[in-house]
Amino acid sequence: MRIDPSKLSLDRPVSSLDPNRGTHEEAAEWLRYGPVVPVALPDDVRAWAAMSARAARTVLDAHPDLSSDPRHWGAYTRGEIPAGWPLLNLIVGESMLNADGADHRRLRRLVSHAFTPRRIDALAPRIHEITRELLDGLERGGPGVVDLKEAFAYPLPLLIICELFGLTDPEEQRRLRDHFRTMLSVEVSGAERQEAAVGQREVLARLVADRRVAPLGDLTSALIEALDDEDGRLTEKELIDTLEIILLAGHETTVNSLTGTVLALLTHPDQLAALLDGELDWPAAVEAGLHWNAPLRTLFMRYALRDTVLHGVTVRRGEPVVVGLAAANREQRGAVPARFDIRDSRHYERQLAFGAGPHYCLGAALARLESAIGLSQLFTRFPATRLAVPESELVPVISTAMNGLTALPVVLRPASA
Ligand code: HEM
Repeated sequence: MRIDPSKLSLDRPVSSLDPNRGTHEEAAEWLRYGPVVPVALPDDVRAWAAMSARAARTVLDAHPDLSSDPRHWGAYTRGEIPAGWPLLNLIVGESMLNADGADHRRLRRLVSHAFTPRRIDALAPRIHEITRELLDGLERGGPGVVDLKEAFAYPLPLLIICELFGLTDPEEQRRLRDHFRTMLSVEVSGAERQEAAVGQREVLARLVADRRVAPLGDLTSALIEALDDEDGRLTEKELIDTLEIILLAGHETTVNSLTGTVLALLTHPDQLAALLDGELDWPAAVEAGLHWNAPLRTLFMRYALRDTVLHGVTVRRGEPVVVGLAAANREQRGAVPARFDIRDSRHYERQLAFGAGPHYCLGAALARLESAIGLSQLFTRFPATRLAVPESELVPVISTAMNGLTALPVVLRPASA
């Protein structure tokens, strides 16, 4: 039931962005009202939600009236957002994610050196090695049910980001992982989340201090070099914020990409068989998986610099706009209904899992590479793997931002089993 867009206002949200609910119900429900609708986020914080693919692109494609900088968010600057608000860690901090224009280009350019196709390709042997070691560990564990998220999908991207940063101490890696989990959890108190945020910064500050004394060929050393340049291109705070944002943007998203695509393949065994026969290729499977189960359910946020009209609704100056990436991906395209279909690229070309416009994911090539290596090694080694519980018993993570599973219990089986 489409509502006249001029009647929509943040004072009357059509729905709430419920961390307990799945993307697909949300997509179906909200798209009924229109492409841009007012919603209530946790703690009744209000935002506009762009849910159709067209509306998502309008918002993301360098819209002149929308900013990524939370200092333009009216409710935030007026002090109306509670200190421990679950999404605050995602959207404050001086990093490229929250910067616009020349500032954004400066921060992005410095980091983009670490993400050139050559640098990413050079990481491939280490990604293969880390993947192999994780799978060796699973094989040593013997037969039985294993939580593939905990044992494989969670550690793989974290270890790869640590590799990128040059964070090699396993104890520090473990601390980072624990703080990180807590920071993103909606099941802990605001105070615990803040404490975890401090702990995470401490790990990164120690890494920066180490690399200052002994630089290596890693991203941290390269950023320090930029910081120490005569023209002071990057401040110390920006440096730690940047490492933090890479971790935030690059970890859980890739975890969800891996688990989401594993699930899609286990529930579409004909396509898995075609991959194993070499009839389909793994990068296409990754793409189809990203489209079907976009790892980032909702993108936070953009803020109106002035009153602006988006697909018929008036967004007032200072109001925030979120983008429903998962919903936009699953929208029917003309006569083509959304489905997981590796064979037919019409389903997943121009998908929005990595965003669009100037903030398009800097780590997309890395995420695609590690997902393709992770999935191909996993299923080549354990081709007869099956879900250990019915699909309906899998529990989604409680999150307004992420589209993932709390666990992915499987029975890992080699071909002969
Ligand atoms: C499947 C995995 C991933 C998904 C779905 C994903 C998704 C996204 C999306 C939607 C954005 C746009 C944010 C915005 O417009 O505000 C983004 C930005 C970003 N991503 Fe990713 N990402 C993934 C993996 C990674 C990895 C592996 C890294 C790095 C190790 C990374 C680093 C970044 C950075 C630095 C940005 C900020 C770019 C900017 O603001 O200019 N991402 N990502």
